[in-house]
Amino acid sequence: MRNLIDIRDLSVKEIEELIAVADDIIENPEKYAEKCRHKKLATLFFEPSTRTRLSFEAAMYELGGNVLGFSEAQSSSAAKGESVADTVRTVSCYADIIAMRHPKEGAPLVASTASEVPIINAGDGGHNHPTQTLTDLLTIKRETGRLCNLTVGFCGDLKFGRTVHSLISALSRYTGIKIVLISPDELKLPGYIKEEALNANNIPYEQTTDLESVMPELDILYMTRVQRERFFNEEDYLRLKDSYILTPEKLKNAKQSLRILHPLPRVNEISREVDKDERACYFRQVRYGKYIRMALILMLLGVE
Ligand code: NCD
Repeated sequence: MRNLIDIRDLSVKEIEELIAVADDIIENPEKYAEKCRHKKLATLFFEPSTRTRLSFEAAMYELGGNVLGFSEAQSSSAAKGESVADTVRTVSCYADIIAMRHPKEGAPLVASTASEVPIINAGDGGHNHPTQTLTDLLTIKRETGRLCNLTVGFCGDLKFGRTVHSLISALSRYTGIKIVLISPDELKLPGYIKEEALNANNIPYEQTTDLESVMPELDILYMTRVQRERFFNEEDYLRLKDSYILTPEKLKNAKQSLRILHPLPRVNEISREVDKDERACYFRQVRYGKYIRMALILMLLGVE
C-alpha cells in the first residue's frame, strides 16, 4: 500500500507520470468521470484549510467518488482525547483513502502506521506539504514548459512555510536548478533542509533579505504568507508580517517570462494590483491543484 507523506515518497518518474495524467484530465475530463465510482475519500482536517480540503473533495467528486470527513479537530473525537492512530484506524474502516492535515509535524506518518488504507499528508505543522508541491510542479510545468534550468526565488516565511520545504526538496532532484532564498533573518530556511535537499544534491543557492536586488535573475518567484499560527509570540509576528509586499513597482526589473506563484491564502504579501499582471499565476495554480490531486488519488488507489 502506498502513502504520500513526504514528496520524496514519489520518484521523479512518478511525478512525471502524475503530471502527464493531470494534463490528460485537463484535456479529457469525461474519460475520468467514473473512475472512482463507489470509492470514498476521507478528509481529516485538524487544522484550517480552504483550497487543500476542497480541492481534494472536488477531485474525488470529479472522479465519480464520494467524500466524508471533518474540517476541524473540535468536531471529531480528538476533542475527547482520541489519538491520531485510533482515529485513523477507525476511519480506515469506512474510507478507501484518507487525506489528513494536522498541526503536529509527523502526525500523518504516525497515521500511516495505523491505517489500512493509503494516507496522504495534506500538511503537517511547519514541516511538509507534498500535495501542494505536486500542484506547484504542475503549475511550473504548464506555465514554463519545463522543470529544469530554472532559477527559483522563495520569498517570505521560509522557516515555517511547509510548502517551501517540500517544493525545495522536490526541485533539488532536477537539473539546472538554482535557488534564491529571500527572507528576514528570523525566518530563514531551516538548516536541515539546506543539508538534506540543497547541499546533498549540489544545488547552488544564495540567501538574501533583499527581494528587489535578485528580481532580475528569477524565472519563478514563490511568495509565501508569514505563518502566524506557528509563532511563539504575537509581537514577533507583528514585526515580521509585512517584511515583503510585492507590488507592480517591485516587478519593474523582473523578466517578462517570470511566473509568480503563491500557495495561498494571501494576507498582505502580494498587492491586489499584481493580480492583473499576466505573470501572476496563483489563481491558475489553485485550479491545477484539483487536477493533480485527481491524478494522485488514481495512483494511490491503483486505478488504471
Ligand atoms: C498553505 C499551507 O496550508 O501550508 N496553504 C495551502 O495549502 N494552499 C500555505 C499557507 O497556509 O500559508
